[in-house]
Order: sequence, then C-alpha cells, then structure tokens
Amino acid sequence: MSDQQKLKWQPGKRDLIFLGIIAAVVLLLVLGTSERTTKAVPDDATHRAATSKAACMVCHGSAGIHPQPKGHTKADQCFQCHVQPKGWKGASR
Ligand code: HEC
Ligand code: HEC
Repeated sequence: MSDQQKLKWQPGKRDLIFLGIIAAVVLLLVLGTSERTTKAVPDDATHRAATSKAACMVCHGSAGIHPQPKGHTKADQCFQCHVQPKGWKGASR
C-alpha cells in the first residue's frame, strides 16, 4: 500500500526547489531569533553592587567608561532586556 503511493509521487525539480526554499526560510528564522538575544549583565562584583539605574549610568552613560551604544534605548528597566547577574540583591531594574 505505502510502497505503491511512493511510486506514484515522483518529486520533480520544482518540488525540490520548493522544499529547499522552505528549509532555507526555517533556518533563517531559527538563526535570526538566536542572534537577537541581548547581552547579559556581567556577573562580577561591580555589577552585583550597582542597584539603581543611576548607578549603572555612572559607567554606562555617555561620559562613562563603557557607554551604551549610539541609538540605545532610553528605557529605564535595564533588566527587562539585559539578564541580571545571579544572586542579584537590588530592585529589578
Ligand atoms: C563601575 C562601573 C560600572 C557600573 C556601575 C555598571 N557597569 Fe556595566 N559594565 C562596566 C564595564 C567596564 C563593562 C565592560 C567590561 C565587562 O564586561 O565587564 C560593562 C559591561 C556591561 C554590559 C555588557 C556585557 C557584555 O557582554 O558586553 C552590560 C549589559 C552592562 N554592563 C549592564 C550594566 C547594568 C544594567 C548596570 C547597573 C545595574 C551596570 N552595567 C553597572 C562597568 C560598569
Ligand atoms: C529595550 C531593551 C533594552 C533595555 C531596557 C536596555 N538595553 Fe542595553 N542594550 C540593548 C540592546 C538590544 C543592545 C545591543 C547589543 C546587545 O547587548 O546585544 C544593548 C547594549 C547595551 C550595552 C553595550 C553592551 C556591549 O558592550 O556591547 C550596554 C553597556 C547597555 N546596553 C547598558 C544598558 C543599561 C545600563 C540599561 C538600563 C539603563 C539598558 N542597557 C537597558 C537593549 C536594552
């Protein structure tokens, strides 16, 4: 039964191109989502000690030692996007 069905369907060139396009799109979507992950906040003493946005901005403001990139969001909740270090003690911002 299933052998007979296999014989009837002969994948032509167009079928293979179509399948190839689907595979490429799926691959792009999968790779695209993993690239969009935002960098985590480093898990070091400095970052565990900073407990407010003002503290973060001392170093990450435009005059700090490691400024946010140009065009970075002005959003206040840093940890909405950057994962906070393990053992975080402060408020969730
Ligand atoms: C005393 C200065 C200082 C303070 C305060 C500080 N940072 Fe940083 N931060 C740095 C430096 C220097 C780097 C780059 C070197 C490194 O990875 O440690 C960095 C790197 C980062 C990175 C990028 C990590 C990467 O993989 O490139 C993020 C995100 C970040 N900090 C977020 C924060 C947040 C959120 C706060 C507030 C809770 C904060 N920082 C407070 C100095 C600081
Ligand atoms: C809406 C999401 C969002 C919020 C909120 C946010 N960031 Fe970012 N941040 C990003 C993205 C996206 C990047 C681009 C590069 C990456 O980290 O993947 C970035 C990059 C950075 C970098 C540069 C990392 C490096 O070394 O390449 C620093 C430093 C940083 N953010 C600090 C902060 C601080 C401090 C706050 C809070 C005041 C904050 N961010 C809030 C999304 C966000």
